[in-house]
Amino acid sequence: MDIKFIQFQSHGDERGSLVSLEGHKNMPFTIKRVYYIFDTKEKVRRGFHAHKQLKQLAIVLKGSCRFLLDDGKEKIELLLDNPSQGLFIESFVWREMYDFSEDCVLLVLADSFYDESDYIRDYQEFIEMATHDS
Ligand code: TYD
Repeated sequence: MDIKFIQFQSHGDERGSLVSLEGHKNMPFTIKRVYYIFDTKEKVRRGFHAHKQLKQLAIVLKGSCRFLLDDGKEKIELLLDNPSQGLFIESFVWREMYDFSEDCVLLVLADSFYDESDYIRDYQEFIEMATHDS
């Protein structure tokens, strides 16, 4: 599986750091939705779904968490702990997020509005769809 991290330019000086995200300039899509996950409880594992169309970029703004990405052929585990880096998640990739640090703030930028019909929440169904399409 091709894992795509996008490295953002961090404008840092003696006052601190600043990262700017601009649709199609340093982003792989135009941002239509933003959500963030925080205050995650200990030993929690979330996600457990893939999307039919949706593309997303995940950025850990504070703390750290791990991602499991699975395209139906290969599973890859990644640690996200750098607010200057975005993890691009294509459609038809099963994701699980876990090992959230207590202070973790996970920002997700999406190319579409929230649409439950775009979710694949059943792993067997995902495997069938992912392997059928490839
Ligand atoms: P859920 O899909 O369980 O989150 P995760 O992928 O982290 O496991 O979403 C939690 C709740 O939030 C669920 O009721 C759906 C709702 N939700 C929205 O209303 N808008 C959104 O953009 C997202 C991502 C979720």
